[in-house]
Amino acid sequence: MPKKIYIFDTTLRDGEQSPGASLNTHEKLEIAKQLERLGVDAIEAGFPIASKGDFQAVKTIAQNVKKPVIVALARAVKQDIDRAWEAIQYAAKPRIHTFIATSDIHMRYKLKMEPEEVLKRAVEMVSYAKSLCNDVEFSPEDGTRTRPEFLYKVLEAVIDAGATVLNIPDTVGYAMPDEFGALIRGIRENVPGIDNVILSVHCHNDLGLAVANSLAAIQNGAQQVECTVNGLGERAGNAAMEEIVMVLKTRSDLFDCYTDIVTEQIYRTSAMVSHLTGMHIQANKAIVGSNAFAHESGIHQHGMLSNRQTYEIMTPESIGLKQSQMVLGKHSGRHAFEERLKELGFASLTQDEINSAFERFKDLADKKKYVMDKDIEALINEKVLKVPEAYELEYFHISSGNTLVATSTVKIRSDNEVYEEAACGDGPVDATFKAIDRAVGVEVKLEDYYLRAVTSGKDALGEVTVKISKNGDVYIGRGLSTDVIEASAKAYVNAINKMLLAQNGKNGNKN
Ligand code: KIV
Ligand code: ZN
Repeated sequence: MPKKIYIFDTTLRDGEQSPGASLNTHEKLEIAKQLERLGVDAIEAGFPIASKGDFQAVKTIAQNVKKPVIVALARAVKQDIDRAWEAIQYAAKPRIHTFIATSDIHMRYKLKMEPEEVLKRAVEMVSYAKSLCNDVEFSPEDGTRTRPEFLYKVLEAVIDAGATVLNIPDTVGYAMPDEFGALIRGIRENVPGIDNVILSVHCHNDLGLAVANSLAAIQNGAQQVECTVNGLGERAGNAAMEEIVMVLKTRSDLFDCYTDIVTEQIYRTSAMVSHLTGMHIQANKAIVGSNAFAHESGIHQHGMLSNRQTYEIMTPESIGLKQSQMVLGKHSGRHAFEERLKELGFASLTQDEINSAFERFKDLADKKKYVMDKDIEALINEKVLKVPEAYELEYFHISSGNTLVATSTVKIRSDNEVYEEAACGDGPVDATFKAIDRAVGVEVKLEDYYLRAVTSGKDALGEVTVKISKNGDVYIGRGLSTDVIEASAKAYVNAINKMLLAQNGKNGNKN
C-alpha cells in the first residue's frame, strides 16, 4: 500500500532566515493560510524566543490556522520551550520542536559541552516539552556529521523521553544522497522504538543536493520531509517543497508513496511567497520558474503539437499554472470580474476586497487594452491584501532627460495632512525617492531595487520591489503601475509604511 509522506513546511521559520526575506505578522498569516489551502501537514511558524515579532506571528498563526499541525522551534533550553508553548498553546494541533547539536565539532566549539551532557540535556528538555505538549519533535543539529553510534544513542533516549517525531538535519548541506540514505536506513535498523515515531529529514542545499538527499531518505524509510516553498532558507536554502512533491507525483513508478498536497495550489503559493519575501525566482527554476513550461525551440514545439508528452513530463495545469489568457477589458462587467477572481482561486475575498479590486481593475482597463490573469493576480496581491498604510502617494511629477538633472516633486497624504517636497537626483527614481524621504521626514537606506513586467507588451504593468533598511532591519515594499516611476514611488512609500508599522504599531503615523 502506498505510504503517506508528511510535508512539514518551514518557509516561515528556516525560509524566513534567508538574508533579506523578512515578513511581518500579517504577511506570515497570509502565507500560512495559503499553506493550509496547499495541504501541508505541518507549518513551522517561527522561533518564538527569537523576537517579539516572531512570537506574535506564531501565536497569530496558531489562533487562526486550524488544519495543519502548528510547530514552534525552541533550543533545548527551558526558556525557549516555555516561550514556544506560550505561542502555540492555542493551536488545534500544536507541536514543540526542540533541537541541540550532536556533532563533535558543534559540541566542542559551539556548545562547549561534553557528549554526555548533551545527551542529558536532550532527554531533560524533551521530557519538559512533553509535560506541556503531547506532540514533541527533536532534532540532533548537524545530524549528518554526528558519529552514528552517538546519534543512535541520543535518538533512543529521546524516544524514551516522549518524542513523537525525530528529525535528522543535514544542517550544512554536506551529505551525498547515497550516504544520507544509508544514514536513515542505519537509524531505522539500529534505534529501538523508531517504528513508534515519525522519522523526518531536513536538508540544506549548500551543494545543490537538498532535494536529492530528501528523496534518498524517503527511499530508505523517512516518513516526513521538511522543506520550504521555492527552496527558500539559510545560505543556499532548504529542500524545495514543489520539487519534492512533483518528483513523488511524476515518478510514482519509483516511489510507492503519496502526499496530501493539492498540487494545483503550488504555483499560487510560490508566487505569493516570492512576492511577499521579495525573493525572486530564477527563470529556469524547476517546477515554478517562468521558463519551466516554456518550449522555445521549433523541434520541441513541433513535438508538443503532435503529442504534449513528447517534451512535457507533467502539465502546467497540475501545478495550477493556466495559460495566460486575454481575459477582460474595459467593457467587462462586475459579474465577469468576480467569476474570474473565483477561477483564479481568490474565492475567500470579502465584499470590500472585491469592490476595491474591481475599482482598480477598471482603472487599469482604462490604461491597458487587455487585462490578463497575471495582471489581476498582481492587483490583488499589491493592494487588496495589504495592511493599512500611514502614507499614500497622491501625486508625483518628474522632469528628466539625458542632458538634464532629474528633479521630482511628490505630494504625500497622511490622514488629513498633505506633504509636498521636491528633490534632484541621479535619474528620476533617485530624485523621487529623495523627495519622498523629505516629505515623510525619514532617512532610510535603499538596499535593493527590482523592476519586472507582469505581462508582456508595451502597456504591461510594471511591478517594483524595493528593500530598505533602518538600524539593520529590512523592510520590503511593492508598487504596481503601467508607469515605472509611479510603481517605484508606490513601492518606496509601501516599504516606509511597513517600517513605521513595525516601529510604531498600528498605522505607524509619524505624528
Ligand atoms: O538546519 C538545521 O539543523 C535546523 C534545525 C533547527 C532543525 O534548521
Ligand atoms: Zn535548517
